[in-house]
Amino acid sequence: MTAVLVAIDGPAGSGKSTLARGLARWLDLPYVNTGLMYRALTRRALDDHVDPGDVEALERLARTLDVDLDMTVEPPELRIEGVRPGQELTTPRVEGSVSLVSSHPRVRAVLVERQRDLAGDGAVMEGRDIGRVVLPQATVKIYLDATQDERAGRRTVERGVGSMAEALAARDRQDAKTNPFVPADDAIRLDTSGLTAEETLAEALAIVTERIAGKPS
Ligand code: C5P
Repeated sequence: MTAVLVAIDGPAGSGKSTLARGLARWLDLPYVNTGLMYRALTRRALDDHVDPGDVEALERLARTLDVDLDMTVEPPELRIEGVRPGQELTTPRVEGSVSLVSSHPRVRAVLVERQRDLAGDGAVMEGRDIGRVVLPQATVKIYLDATQDERAGRRTVERGVGSMAEALAARDRQDAKTNPFVPADDAIRLDTSGLTAEETLAEALAIVTERIAGKPS
């Protein structure tokens, strides 16, 4: 049987992580959050005093970044430098540079290759280019969206800090300039505005199980 690959794409704060982790648990698949890989690369570059515009140095770092799946947790999740990533990747310092680090096609090519390797035996993978670039052959592709207000509100609750609306909008603008977000043609759009996490998961599970049932093995 071919590996089940679920692609979850969408902008920051659309509810991707909660949904992708929930789906992975239900489907008994690893959960791969590709944003963490771009964030970890950014943090490493900043720590090593590598200029976020230095493509060659970033490419080298992207190749050597220690990334694997922690198979001891449910669902299996990304481990970076041997540990599960935490709040060190959501600091304003990292978020202020991640769009620039992610803008270089050569850097992306290295991480995309590594993401494909991680999904080799099946995965629920979340990001912005999963259905279109990383896993164009995915079993099912979901494009999550939500209104700008709802997305900023979710991030504020998630991070427990004051209004994140401006920071989120700035990152969206920067991402849109350097790495325009285009959903795959065959992605199913799911607007999560007004939906609880449980309702979103239920809708997505219905979409995924229908697709899996309809696919020849
Ligand atoms: O998903 P998250 O908001 O954690 O992603 C952090 C940043 O990583 C994004 O703002 C974007 O610059 C970059 N990213 C990307 N491609 C992905 C995932 C994330 O360029 N597949």
